Parts: sequence; structure tokens; C-alpha cells
Amino acid sequence: MNPIPTHVAIIMDGNGRWAQARGLPRLKGHEAGAESVSAVIRACRQLGVKHLTLYAFSSENWRRPAEEVRGLMRLLLRFAREREHELHENRVRLRVIGAIEDFPLAVRRTLQRVIEATERYSEGQLILALSYGGRAEIARAARRIAEQVRAGALDPEDIDEATVARNLDAPDVPDPELMIRTSGEMRLSNFLLWQLSYAELYVTPVLWPDFREPDFRRAIEAYRRRQRRFGAIA
Ligand code: FPP
Repeated sequence: MNPIPTHVAIIMDGNGRWAQARGLPRLKGHEAGAESVSAVIRACRQLGVKHLTLYAFSSENWRRPAEEVRGLMRLLLRFAREREHELHENRVRLRVIGAIEDFPLAVRRTLQRVIEATERYSEGQLILALSYGGRAEIARAARRIAEQVRAGALDPEDIDEATVARNLDAPDVPDPELMIRTSGEMRLSNFLLWQLSYAELYVTPVLWPDFREPDFRRAIEAYRRRQRRFGAIA
């Protein structure tokens, strides 16, 4: 059996379908999805999963109707304000990866405040991927590396995988061992392309708003039974 993963990444999919099935506006699905976020944070703390990365808003999500985008922004603000105490109770540090500068000032300010207020916690980390795309993150890393070369601090000959990893958005966070995707879709959708190279993938038909602690535990159990070989044979 594999040990409990230290880092789990999740594509929280199916909020829209969950709402549609109930004849509700899509935003109600996202609201219910925020409850699943809290449930999974608690489960991580109980199980000893130290890092949790959630795909909360992709760089492609800006293409959704303005009303839905605004609703998601409001929800993020509300989450940061109303659930901050849960982060403190669970001693979880909040971090963000992605092009956060794309977000409205009010959202950035609130997130920044919670990021700073939880900075001292080292037991667990909640990493929100916001306006996030895996290719864009790798391009940002390339830009940072190019700047170091231009400044004379780095020789191109010395650039290797570790150099790229060091220049990603959250370089100190270990790669996820497990990536969960809800609502049955078998796609990576531009999520953590570099970091998921050796991750085990777990896809469940459960829609994100229905995904709660027992579902998370099932995913962890399935992961623990997987044989991980990293390209070797035994
Ligand atoms: C995908 O479902 C989900 C999103 C685009 C947003 C995820 C956001 C939340 C769960 C809201 C709260 C998050 C935090 C961190 C407070 P979808 O709308 O693509 O579903 P569909 O494929 O069924 O339409």
C-alpha cells in the first residue's frame, strides 16, 4: 500500500450539471461546490494530506457568461471572508497560483489578506489555482529563467528540470501524487501540466457538489492500492 499522499490536486467539475439536474441556476451549483471545498479541507487535515490544490478558476473560465464569472468572483470573496475561520481552525495556509493579477482588486485584496493571516501555518496548505493554466505557468517559469540568464545569474547550460520546477508558481510545494477529477471527464484541462507528470489519476462520476468526505476517502484508498512504478518495472 502506498502511504497517504502528501499532495492531492482536484479538478472540481460538475457544478453546472448538478444545478441543472435540480432546475437551479448554475451559480447554485458553485455555491454547493464551496461546501464540498470545506468538507475536503477537513478530510485532508484528518487524513494527514498536507497540500491540497484546487482548480477553482481556469484561464478559460473567463469565457463564461459575465454573470457566471461575477457570481464566481462573489463566491470566492465570500469563501475567503466567511471560511477564513475554518482555515485558522484547521491551521491551513492559503496560497494562490495562476494569473491572480487578472482578478478584480477587491478579490485580490481579500485573498492577500487571508494569505498573510494564514502564512504562519505549516501543517496544511490550500492552494487555489485562479485564472490558472498549466501552459501559462510553464511560460511564466520560462520568462523568470530568461530574466535570470539576462541578469547573468544563470548559465543556459545549467538549465535543467530542477531549474524549471524552481521557477513555477509554488516551487516549494511537492508534486501531487494524486489528481482527482469529478463528474467523469477524462481530461487534464491544462491543470498542473508539469507537476502531474507522475501523478495517479482518479476520475469519479460523482459531481463536485456531491463530493464529500466519504468520496475523498475512497479516492485516497484507491490511490493507496495503486502500483506506482515511475517508469521502472517492479
Ligand atoms: C466546474 O464546474 C467548476 C468551476 C468552473 C468552478 C469551481 C468553483 C467552485 C467549486 C466554487 C467555490 C470554490 C472555492 C475555492 C470557494 P462546471 O461549472 O464546469 O460544471 P459543468 O461541467 O457541469 O457545467
